[in-house]
Amino acid sequence: MLTLLGIPGALRAASTNRLLLAEARRAFGEARHTEADLRLPLYDGDLETAEGIPPGVQTLADQIAAADAVVIATPEYNKAPPGVLKNALDWVSRTKGAPFRDKPVAIISAADGRGGGDRSQFALRLMLTPFRPRLLPGPEVMVAESSKAFTPDGRLIDPRYQNALAELMQALRTEASRPA
Ligand SMILES: Cc1cc2nc3c(=O)[nH]c(=O)nc-3n(C[C@H](O)[C@H](O)[C@H](O)COP(=O)(O)O)c2cc1C
Repeated sequence: MLTLLGIPGALRAASTNRLLLAEARRAFGEARHTEADLRLPLYDGDLETAEGIPPGVQTLADQIAAADAVVIATPEYNKAPPGVLKNALDWVSRTKGAPFRDKPVAIISAADGRGGGDRSQFALRLMLTPFRPRLLPGPEVMVAESSKAFTPDGRLIDPRYQNALAELMQALRTEASRPA
């Protein structure tokens, strides 16, 4: 069975990106599902020197390494991914084994603006470049006006988003089933 790791870029419990990630998991289909926790210390070279890689960071790196595919749901904060996501990537880059290398990765976003996090996705694409993942080019899933985009039980209302997400997740599944 495939393992899919979901990385939510927002910490709040009611995050629309968490809802989107849950939809992505359903669209991916049968899999072992794991979820990352980005409540990590801020990257600090002195902390790294004194104590090494924090346990939460090593857990995240191990989750990435163990996953057959990764989906990252990013909000947009001031036209870019949130600091928690950048912080997590900076920490992961300090771990051994390059866990993102050749890993199939899909990016999705939900944001309350009209662009649905388009600039945040673009920036995240660049941020992932040094990790050399197998980053899916699309279809792009950018859920605009995200506070109104889900039913009370967390389902995407607009079938266009559902269809794009289904296509992206099936492409991720295909990529995950293919050797690097
Ligand atoms: C600091 C901050 C900056 C934001 N900047 C943007 C932005 O640039 N574009 C946008 O569409 N929404 C922006 N928003 C609104 C977010 O899209 C909205 O809070 C969204 O719900 C965040 O994702 P979440 O539901 O997963 O927490 C911003 C929100 C915060 C807290």
